[in-house]
Amino acid sequence: MTEDNKIGYAVLGLGVGKSHVESALGCEKCRLVAVCDIKAEKVKSVTDQHPEVTGYTDFEDLIRDERVDIISVCLPSAMHADYAIRAMEAGKHVLIEKPMDITCEAIDRIERARIKTGKKVGGIYQNRNNAVMKPLKEAVDSGKLGKIFLGTFAVKWLREPSYFEGEHSWHGTWAMDGGGSLINQAVHTLDIMQWIMGKPVTVSSVMSVNNHSIESEDLTASVFTFENGATATFLSTTCCYPGLSTDIQVYGTDGSVEIDGDKLKLWKIKGEDERDEEDMLDRYGRGNRIAAAYQPGMKYGHITQVEDMIDAVIEDRDPQIMPKEAKKAVKLIESVYLSARTGETVKIDW
Ligand SMILES: NC(=O)c1ccc[n+]([C@@H]2O[C@H](COP(=O)([O-])OP(=O)(O)OC[C@H]3O[C@@H](n4cnc5c(N)ncnc54)[C@H](O)[C@@H]3O)[C@@H](O)[C@H]2O)c1
Repeated sequence: MTEDNKIGYAVLGLGVGKSHVESALGCEKCRLVAVCDIKAEKVKSVTDQHPEVTGYTDFEDLIRDERVDIISVCLPSAMHADYAIRAMEAGKHVLIEKPMDITCEAIDRIERARIKTGKKVGGIYQNRNNAVMKPLKEAVDSGKLGKIFLGTFAVKWLREPSYFEGEHSWHGTWAMDGGGSLINQAVHTLDIMQWIMGKPVTVSSVMSVNNHSIESEDLTASVFTFENGATATFLSTTCCYPGLSTDIQVYGTDGSVEIDGDKLKLWKIKGEDERDEEDMLDRYGRGNRIAAAYQPGMKYGHITQVEDMIDAVIEDRDPQIMPKEAKKAVKLIESVYLSARTGETVKIDW
């Protein structure tokens, strides 16, 4: 707690961690009290602008700071569990970037530490809070789309060679990133696939490296089958010039929904007239680059999850994404890579 009785917030790792910094600075219920990065210049770039924030280059100093209640863990992915567990053991709550770690085993360690220390653990999957996801989720869960039989998901992004070089050379490595386009870029969409479509039971995959000097993959293609009988295709790549969108398309016996990035592209439900469809496209599609930004009172991106984490601590409740939930996409990633390596269809061992 801070002297004025606000939640003390800290950010560890100042790459995407800068979004957590901005979110904490913008939240009235907390004070950003500290940032930490082994690179002193990154720490200075925050403390120069915000002299009230303490800068650390040593994690041990950060966890000794008694004002700090919550730490956003924004380190390279394979470091998440070790640092989050040490933070919890030092009495801090943690909000952990995606993927929560690169293996289910590591996420299980986080879960055990959560139970042992009684601290709160949240995971980041901010795209679940894109405005357009709410009507899609409701249409599926309420049965409005009928029986879901097909989903097609495609993450068609581009990453330049520089993304995998220098201080970012951990990207695309099995040891630190846990893989390539699937675990780093497409994990959000894979999480959304299982969140919307239900429990996958088998997967058949291939993977390849096409246009990068990396050891893992820059393309995966998978076919999933689901407990409810549905089928989904899932593509991830970082090779699509000049960087294309993310397609999320869900088809049920009573309707079809197609999303392009975070914009609604098609909304067709049996029994709804054209005006309903037009209304949905006006609200969630067309020129709305980020539909949430156009919805009064709604927020987009990391801020939703940083605020949720702070509220979870204040209200003593679970954060939006618990380790068990964060683990599901990582389970699917392990299964895709296993199938691609062995050439076999993998039964997903939940
Ligand atoms: N949610 C999203 O949209 C999103 C976007 C990008 C990255 N991420 C995730 O965030 C995490 C970080 O990715 P990034 O792109 O910011 O990486 P990055 O390499 O840009 O940043 C990581 C930072 O951690 C620092 N660091 C490394 N070891 C440290 C240590 N021991 N103590 C303190 N600081 C240390 C590095 O100096 C670097 O500044 C990854 O897990 C990634 O998957 C999430």
